[in-house]
Amino acid sequence: MDLGIKGKRALVTGASSGLGKAAALALASEGVIVTINSRTKENLEKTAEYIVKETGNKPNIAVGDISSSDNIKEIIKTAGEIDILVSNTGGPPPGDFSDFAEQDWASACDLILNSALNLTRAVLEPMKAKGWGRLIYMTSIAVLQPIDDLILSNTYRAGLTGFCKTISNKYAKFGITANTVCPGYTGTERLWHLAESRAEQSGVTKEEVMKGFGSVCPVGRVGKPEELASLITYLASIQAAYITGASIPVDGGLYKSLI
Ligand SMILES: NC(=O)c1ccc[n+]([C@@H]2O[C@H](COP(=O)([O-])OP(=O)(O)OC[C@H]3O[C@@H](n4cnc5c(N)ncnc54)[C@H](OP(=O)(O)O)[C@@H]3O)[C@@H](O)[C@H]2O)c1
Repeated sequence: MDLGIKGKRALVTGASSGLGKAAALALASEGVIVTINSRTKENLEKTAEYIVKETGNKPNIAVGDISSSDNIKEIIKTAGEIDILVSNTGGPPPGDFSDFAEQDWASACDLILNSALNLTRAVLEPMKAKGWGRLIYMTSIAVLQPIDDLILSNTYRAGLTGFCKTISNKYAKFGITANTVCPGYTGTERLWHLAESRAEQSGVTKEEVMKGFGSVCPVGRVGKPEELASLITYLASIQAAYITGASIPVDGGLYKSLI
């Protein structure tokens, strides 16, 4: 199927590893001109090399911490006018309410929520003027079913979901769709860190924790980053024009509610 996005411009943040890297690769495979972002130049260069090798399309690199609105302005200057925004970043640390001080909450808000707001602010008006745009926000299964030791993630991703839904209502008439994608347990570096943290608390190995993540969902394994990336690429397509305001899980059936 021709997704109709060859030659469009995408910015994928948090793209030097894991889910962001997989999304950048999948978009580049469709002939999208991709800019990849993360905080670390060296990681981005390695990712860019990998994407060129796999797709023949060389992504642009925009280094910067997206928790800061000034950095976002610089990233957008490098990326140019964006048709497809994939707003993604690292996850905040795991823990309970009592583990975090005021500054931890502020940092997590900047990382998860304010980054997405500032990225949207930077791309929305040009999309509106063009009459076409795709806003895709990475959240988590935690917005559908909060995860006990991820209070920072549960809180700010829920806020991001509310933001996305509101934007989707307002901007649909300008050809702009806005959706969130909600990964369940997906085999990336981040998930290994979470497995390590759980392993320390429970006295088992991180490998056993990983196996446990897979066994709790009907599919019986953790997800592959490329499985989430396929959804992102579809949401970016011309065919997905009628999907907006949705929060779509890619979780092997982990989320058990009917709707
Ligand atoms: N994997 C899962 O099972 C899962 C499930 C649900 C939700 N999620 C969420 O999905 C997101 C991506 O997860 P992942 O598993 O792909 O994580 P990951 O492997 O840790 O990748 C995170 C990416 O974000 C970049 N990054 C981190 N902080 C950044 C910042 N402030 N500004 C710009 N880039 C930043 C990292 O690169 P640098 O370090 O070079 O900056 C890296 O490229 C996370 O928010 C995670 O919590 C993941």
